[in-house]
Amino acid sequence: MKNTTQINPKQAAGEKAAQLVKNNMVVGLGTGSTTAYAIKELGKRVASGLKILGVPTSYQSAFLATENGIPLTTLDEHPVLDIAIDGADQVANFAAIKGGGAAHTREKIVALSAKKFIVVADESKVAEVLNHPVPLEVLPFARKLVVKQVAKLGGKAVVRMGINKDGPVISDNGNFILDADFGEINDPELLDRELSQCTGIVEHGIFTKGVLRAFAVIIT
Ligand code: 5RP
Repeated sequence: MKNTTQINPKQAAGEKAAQLVKNNMVVGLGTGSTTAYAIKELGKRVASGLKILGVPTSYQSAFLATENGIPLTTLDEHPVLDIAIDGADQVANFAAIKGGGAAHTREKIVALSAKKFIVVADESKVAEVLNHPVPLEVLPFARKLVVKQVAKLGGKAVVRMGINKDGPVISDNGNFILDADFGEINDPELLDRELSQCTGIVEHGIFTKGVLRAFAVIIT
């Protein structure tokens, strides 16, 4: 008889990443539906005796970790993490775009604090060239100035609106999220530097070599 069991690729990637976590590690816990599978799998391993501490990148990952029995800590207490696991909206040529869940600022901080950064993604996230709109976390006071600066860089930024919430999405840090469309991003390193220089942008969602120093991508 044919085996008709469907493997969910997000689940496969998330669960594989969770297997890289060893006893006594301090683990960065990313945000999103793929990482959620990693967190749930880590929860099962904790129930079977694995000793870890998690640093969440969002309320979503903090709630999920707590529900799954993973003890949490902070970057103040553990400024160097052994490993961080996180998803991506798009991956191409050693660069990634993140922030689909509006969590990229904390995600970048956690990734930079980790000795190893594991990106978990299913095949649909892999592109030849990045062309996904770049999430920008923006101080509300600077919204219009940021739109103008992004236009000068050749992009079009729009404020992300809430679903089941009227008005703009507010990040876990209390800021707006703008999605900036640049079309094809042929030089992500350059755009990374340019966006980092814009006044009013707290952080952008392009992750390049600087952040991805020691990283691996698990793609299913
Ligand atoms: C959140 C992120 C997520 O990692 C990214 O949006 C991928 O999410 P998903 O695994 O649900 O597709 O960057 O800010």
